[in-house]
Amino acid sequence: MRKLLVGGNWKQNGTVKFAHDFSQNVLNKAKFDANKVEVVVSPSTLHLLTAKQALQNHIQVSAQNISQYKNGAYTGELSAEMLNDAGIHWTILGHSERRHVFGESDKVVGEKVKHALAHNLKVIACIGEKLDERESGKTQVVNERQLNAIRELVNDWSNVVIAYEPVWAIGTGKTASPEQAQEVHDQLRQWLKSNVSADAANATRILYGGSVTEKNADELIAKRDVDGFLVGGAALKEGFLDIIRAAN
Ligand code: G3P
Repeated sequence: MRKLLVGGNWKQNGTVKFAHDFSQNVLNKAKFDANKVEVVVSPSTLHLLTAKQALQNHIQVSAQNISQYKNGAYTGELSAEMLNDAGIHWTILGHSERRHVFGESDKVVGEKVKHALAHNLKVIACIGEKLDERESGKTQVVNERQLNAIRELVNDWSNVVIAYEPVWAIGTGKTASPEQAQEVHDQLRQWLKSNVSADAANATRILYGGSVTEKNADELIAKRDVDGFLVGGAALKEGFLDIIRAAN
């Protein structure tokens, strides 16, 4: 049985005060069985340690991105070694905003996943199609192209969590239906079985992300191949506790 995972991606939001107060006064109230569910929140880099120090109840913190390089002359970047040093064990990689706003290629995302795993980090690897790609029937081709770029560099998927985030659902309020999510998650699990291994297909958590709220979390998590969420806007509000509750 796969342990579920509820991720909260704060994106480029928050203040030092919010990171402390929201962690201490809201997230520490989260009720969940840590044997069944992992909760991983991802503040911006500047606020990571503030949140980490305020959190008490098994909630973990994650970076939102890292470079594919060891420490050195990479201005503006964050390294895997720095996360290791700070006792931070997770990073999100390949988020659609990294891909489509900041131009990270499939190849770069693959290199980052390989580098993060080589530094003992756990990775939430994001994939997903844009609206025009879905409307032209290219959803599976796009998702598998993005996964193949990781598979070419990564053999051991035991520390990889996949987050399927249809770009057309991110920040739009247009959540994928539970049936749409299940259809793609099943395709992804079949891809894992064919391209990695049956064990990896069975063990790898596949999260859904894209306008998840406390109002739709229950019906989404009820789907067989939905192993949790990567939540954006709703992760910054008290309703995030209800999304965690839905996964319990
Ligand atoms: O990484 C999660 C994020 O992209 C989803 O954003 O605001 O649609 O929940 P949102």
